[in-house]
Amino acid sequence: MMMIGRGTSTTLTCTVGVAVLTCALTISTALQEYYNTNPQQDPNIFQVTSELGREFLDNDLLGTERNFKIFMDKYEKRYATREEYMHRLGIFAKNMIRAAQHQVMDPTAIHGINPFSDLSEEEFEQLYTGVRGGSPMDVVKESAPLLEEVGGLPESFDWREKGAVTEVKMQGACGSCWAFSTTGAIEGANFIATGNLVNLSEQQLVDCDNMCDVKDKTACDSGCNGGLMTNAYKYLLEAGGLEEESSYPYTGTRGECMFKSEKVAVRVVNFTNIPNDEDQIAAYLVNHGPLAVGLNAVFMQTYIGGVSCPLICAKKRINHGVLLVGYGAKGFSILRFGYKPYWIIKNSWGKKWGENGYYRLCRAHGMCGMDTMVSAVVTQAS
Ligand SMILES: *[C@@H]1O[C@H](CO)[C@@H](O)[C@H](O)[C@H]1NC(C)=O
Ligand SMILES: *[C@@H]1O[C@H](CO)[C@@H](O)[C@H](O)[C@H]1NC(C)=O
Repeated sequence: MMMIGRGTSTTLTCTVGVAVLTCALTISTALQEYYNTNPQQDPNIFQVTSELGREFLDNDLLGTERNFKIFMDKYEKRYATREEYMHRLGIFAKNMIRAAQHQVMDPTAIHGINPFSDLSEEEFEQLYTGVRGGSPMDVVKESAPLLEEVGGLPESFDWREKGAVTEVKMQGACGSCWAFSTTGAIEGANFIATGNLVNLSEQQLVDCDNMCDVKDKTACDSGCNGGLMTNAYKYLLEAGGLEEESSYPYTGTRGECMFKSEKVAVRVVNFTNIPNDEDQIAAYLVNHGPLAVGLNAVFMQTYIGGVSCPLICAKKRINHGVLLVGYGAKGFSILRFGYKPYWIIKNSWGKKWGENGYYRLCRAHGMCGMDTMVSAVVTQAS
């Protein structure tokens, strides 16, 4: 499991600037490409980014290695050999380009250098995401969800303020996001049912859960190789429940199943797939607690902060499981979206990623497929 060390907060602003700086030329190229394929685009986009481009064109474009060293320092990265160092430097340079492209495509968020900047897109997807299969548009309805009343919901809402959300966790280099998404939903439901917030065990799911999707028998939970939250609920219904983190701690690798039914802390009694409708999702969230959500994480590898609202983000490529904990009414958006409401999403990549471990995604059009794989769980204290 990769641990990410502590850095100082002063270097953060520095690295944000650095990312844009190194890639200013690429911003122009990506923009040109974008323009060629989207001729009807808002002229504001050109204006803002070209100004950025001009500002940075004069700067040193050969500073990649210097930036790489700052990155290594900040995230306490060590590479065993010169070859590995050069290999990671090459990937880092490519990621600077990707971050700049993401910045163009997602102007309301900040993209740049973060703890994952030395991983290729493929490595990143393999190591840090992990929702597998189970056609999201086609999820089997375990039980038809009752529609919620959507009128009269608060303008903004945050389960963290109510004490229903545990600290941000770190899945490490293991495709176990689905297990963290599942425990997050159960921790929230358990808090609402009992008033107690307890950390629950992802490792139990990683080691013991082999449940497969009802329809897609190839979509099975398989530890660090991915899984689905709805499979995990089904496993927990059968197994009898979930242990606490302290009794079954996280290791970040799949091992022998050590589950002991007498140590169960929380039982799952039911779960529901939420309709793909963002008003229904908001109503379920407010009325029932934090929700497990699947989404396309492509913009998350370079995300640093802000409200992510990509111009294009494939809805069908759901590859990451997260926890929806709230929403806000006003995320300022420079370009197309004006003041746009956003979702507040808890991730499992540690607190050094994103906004102290959280992601804000604009609340409109099922951004990045976030409305296609949403589930709520009902629990009972053991
Ligand atoms: C499970 O939830 C659904 C609605 O989401 C409900 O219709 C059903 O009765 C529940 N089942 C149990 C056993 O509580
Ligand atoms: C959950 O675990 C984290 C990390 O060990 C700890 O800081 C936090 O206090 C725990 N939360 C609860 C509610 O026990």
